[in-house]
Amino acid sequence: MEFKDKVVLITGGASGIGKASAVAFAAKGANVIVSDYNAKGGKTTVDSIKKAGGQASFISCNVGDADQVQQLMDQIKSDFERLDIAINNAGIPGASARTHEYPLDDWDKVMRINASGVFYGMKAQLPIMLEQGGGVIINTASIAGLKGLPNSLAYTASKHAVVGMTKTAAMEYGKKNIRINALCPVFTVTPLFNPDAIEKVAAGIPDKLKAGIPLKRFAKVQEQVDAILWLASDKATFVTGLALPIDGGLTA
Ligand SMILES: NC(=O)c1ccc[n+]([C@@H]2O[C@H](COP(=O)([O-])OP(=O)(O)OC[C@H]3O[C@@H](n4cnc5c(N)ncnc54)[C@H](O)[C@@H]3O)[C@@H](O)[C@H]2O)c1
Repeated sequence: MEFKDKVVLITGGASGIGKASAVAFAAKGANVIVSDYNAKGGKTTVDSIKKAGGQASFISCNVGDADQVQQLMDQIKSDFERLDIAINNAGIPGASARTHEYPLDDWDKVMRINASGVFYGMKAQLPIMLEQGGGVIINTASIAGLKGLPNSLAYTASKHAVVGMTKTAAMEYGKKNIRINALCPVFTVTPLFNPDAIEKVAAGIPDKLKAGIPLKRFAKVQEQVDAILWLASDKATFVTGLALPIDGGLTA
């Protein structure tokens, strides 16, 4: 019951790392707000938490829309009166194309959801945390926030932006008892990164990607969730401004 009655928001909670994190926080006693623009998936996450005896509710929000993000935080403030931990996790991969062929629409969409979405989130979360005298924010970046990733220009730009925003905000709010860190996962098997689907369209690519990881495998969702739980916990009270690679050694 490490997070007993802590109010925890997770965006992108309908699937993958966000869903597994929501389930894990609820299992440790948190009151979890699952948010996503996929209402069906988000409600499924909430149902499974409730079935296991946990506390959770769903609030729909497109993180790429600043007004919707503000409404989400206003609703959390009015329903729960606080926000202890915010995980800004929603994200999309965007097109796979070389830079000179990268579609303009995808650039705008990826930057809006992955980068602006994190800015909108922190902008609306921080006033609540300032008022209550502290809090924890975790932004899901990527190893693509720490190094280049060919054919993923917008994704790489957006995740570097997440790392930069995380470090800057950590410096601004440390004195206010608010810790802000970024998680930087390597390829992790979720609906966003499905090696079997990639193999069908680009045979050999998953093996090539795996070969570049010193531990010679992709990450498990639980390995990312464990890092999120640690960053959010009282075991990490002196950790802020960190971009933490959970990457099997890829960035070593
Ligand atoms: N899976 C990986 O290999 C990997 C690696 C590095 C970083 N990441 C990052 O981890 C995070 C979670 O990814 P995942 O692998 O769990 O993917 P996923 O596709 O399983 O889950 C992403 C969730 O975000 C939601 N979402 C997308 N756009 C949204 C929007 N505009 N508003 C609200 N919700 C939105 C989706 O509906 C989905 O439920 C993302 O930020 C992703 O970039 C994933």
